[in-house]
Amino acid sequence: MPRISPHVRAYIGHYYIVERSKGESITVGDSTMAEKVTISVIKADVGSVCGHTRPHPSMIEKCKETLADAAKQGIIEDYYVTRVGDDINLFMSHYKGENNEQVHKLGWDCFTEATKLAKQMKLYGAGQDILTDAFSGNIKGAGPGSAEMSFEERPAEPIIFFMADKTEPSAYSLPLTRIFLDPFTTTGLVIDAKAKQGFDVEIHDVMDHKKVVMSSPEETLSILSLLGDTSRYAIKRITSRAGIGPAAVVSTDKLNMTAGKYVGKDDPVCICRAQSGLPSVGEYLQVFMNTMLVAGWMRGSHYGAFYPCSPDYSTPTYFDGPPRVCALGFQLCNGKFQGLEPYGTVGDHQPVDFFAGDEWNYVRDRAVKASKFMRSMGPFMPAVLGPEEMEYTSRPAVLKDLTKRLEDLE
Ligand code: F6R
Ligand code: MG
Ligand code: MG
Repeated sequence: MPRISPHVRAYIGHYYIVERSKGESITVGDSTMAEKVTISVIKADVGSVCGHTRPHPSMIEKCKETLADAAKQGIIEDYYVTRVGDDINLFMSHYKGENNEQVHKLGWDCFTEATKLAKQMKLYGAGQDILTDAFSGNIKGAGPGSAEMSFEERPAEPIIFFMADKTEPSAYSLPLTRIFLDPFTTTGLVIDAKAKQGFDVEIHDVMDHKKVVMSSPEETLSILSLLGDTSRYAIKRITSRAGIGPAAVVSTDKLNMTAGKYVGKDDPVCICRAQSGLPSVGEYLQVFMNTMLVAGWMRGSHYGAFYPCSPDYSTPTYFDGPPRVCALGFQLCNGKFQGLEPYGTVGDHQPVDFFAGDEWNYVRDRAVKASKFMRSMGPFMPAVLGPEEMEYTSRPAVLKDLTKRLEDLE
């Protein structure tokens, strides 16, 4: 058995894994395996300047300070702090695996500190996603959303982070099914031998609190028969069937029914690995050139069209929207994020901002047009969501007032 150093990280069977250069291969028993890196995104809305719009820069700074400190202590390898609309997003990389208490606690610390500032400045919605008084080991159930994936870092590992505001996790179901299941969208499914082996799709049923893993291409039509109902089903995770590991993971923490009420509007993130047997970066992005209606928007109760943009332009304006989606790209480099910043930088990254360019004006214009059309329907369906999905409703009170006046039909 190897000598147990103070840097022991994990114990597998009767062998210990000892610390070494991050991402290097390690020997466990007789076989050699690469250490898995984990990418964690923890996000929350803890307050905005002037309505549900954007966090104050000091809140973002506070999160950066907290994560910089954690990187110095070796809790995480690297981090990047950004925002979409009113949500602060913490991207973190580490070797501690998914659901790690220390990593989740970091997310909690960032958001409780940012909340303190938001309260001091009397910002709007200060602390709104902090739902518990104290951290109890995992961020799930505490209010913030999270998405995590662990995998062996490939020789070159492109990662895209999608972040959306004013919508719900199932907003990614349509783009992800087109990307991973539709050969007329992703030519790679036809002409890349590894992608052609297909993907396993983990689907969550919000109402019955169940999950199922289905395989494409064989079960594509059955998968679509579920996912088409975005009020009930959402994609949690997609995994390569060619042995590459996880391809995409969506934050779905709030997808559930609480006391008979659907609690699903949690501006979602989606982490995606790209290229070499997975959809290419361009295949991921292509689908967002289509106009797609998603649930959420004003008061979490309307359909509006996805508006791809840079985080810099993600502040909701028109009717608290339209729902934004951003895409930021990095390479992973031995467990650290590599963007356009100098090599060796920790934290202060410059990701590739995929939706910043003018070519996306095409779909942005159409998104505004489609959203404006939906607005022409006012408070009538399908401009507003079905009653079980509305985040706001006055109907129970109206019906209560009418109790005495309601008569049976003859
Ligand atoms: C939607 C959202 C906003 C608010 C709306 C009303 O997710 O955050 O559209 O729902 O601005 O907010 P309140 O009820 O705080 O006045
Ligand atoms: Mg919000
Ligand atoms: Mg938001």
